[in-house]
Amino acid sequence: MPDRPGPQIRLDGRKALVTGGASGIGATTARLLAELGAEVAIADIDEAAAEASLRETGARFHVVGDVANTEDVERMVDEVRKRMGRIDLVFNSAGIGDDLVPVHAQDPDRWQRVVDVNLRGTYLVCRAAGRHMVERRSGSIVNVSSIVGLGAFPGRSAYGVAKAGINHLTATLACEWGPFGVRVNCIAPAYTRTPMVRSLLERKIFDPRVIERRTPLGRFAEPEEMAQAAAFLLSDWASYITGAVLPVDGGWSVYGAAGDVDKGTPVKA
Ligand SMILES: NC(=O)c1ccc[n+]([C@@H]2O[C@H](COP(=O)([O-])OP(=O)(O)OC[C@H]3O[C@@H](n4cnc5c(N)ncnc54)[C@H](O)[C@@H]3O)[C@@H](O)[C@H]2O)c1
Repeated sequence: MPDRPGPQIRLDGRKALVTGGASGIGATTARLLAELGAEVAIADIDEAAAEASLRETGARFHVVGDVANTEDVERMVDEVRKRMGRIDLVFNSAGIGDDLVPVHAQDPDRWQRVVDVNLRGTYLVCRAAGRHMVERRSGSIVNVSSIVGLGAFPGRSAYGVAKAGINHLTATLACEWGPFGVRVNCIAPAYTRTPMVRSLLERKIFDPRVIERRTPLGRFAEPEEMAQAAAFLLSDWASYITGAVLPVDGGWSVYGAAGDVDKGTPVKA
């Protein structure tokens, strides 16, 4: 068993790679990891946003590439390893949403791209960084799934398949790499106020009140709440946790009654 962690989560001296670190949950998590003492590198496809995010997050540098592309991932992980000496922690936040169309109306190429960025991207980054963690017998990875990977959402087949795949990938890697001291976990966020969700709200793709009424905690999540869960799982505070899919969803995934939370539950405060 490792030494008991201090009174609060600290990541001093840890070298962290955050994919999708230019925006949203990735950027917020990069900032928290840096605040907790880690040296952070950001990997993102959007160079300008990644550059801008360095100032906001306190990350040391960024690398640019597509997580769905094998050569890009090998190059980015290699560069981060060379510049930081090693990678202790990985947070896989790079992802894209889908088109909200039913399967029979879906463009198969678009379906494939959503699966590739979310699932293949997570797989490739785990593979490239995890290889060295296995050699060093140490490391901690947190992947990003979604409530859409826990239950079916009509119109979101590509994203749902990818996120469910990330849950299974996380479990498989936890079993393969546990004997080498490498932990792999996953958070499953519900609706979180990031640029991805704000653009859906602005385009009136969904009504926020419907989601708030369906959520036991009655509100959207803030990106900080995802970062806190990720920092915990990445840290030694979670030293005996591997293969977990942690819903960070205000109770969304455990709600099983009909309709709105307050109407489906005959309980008055
Ligand atoms: N926001 C939510 O409500 C929510 C809910 C559940 C899960 N998630 C997941 O959280 C993660 C982050 O989402 P977010 O809301 O912060 O989104 P976001 O759009 O704010 O950030 C995603 C980042 O990933 C980068 N990215 C996209 N494609 C990439 C690629 N091919 N290669 C490298 N980088 C790429 C983008 O440039 C961006 O910086 C995603 O995996 C998303 O599926 C988000």
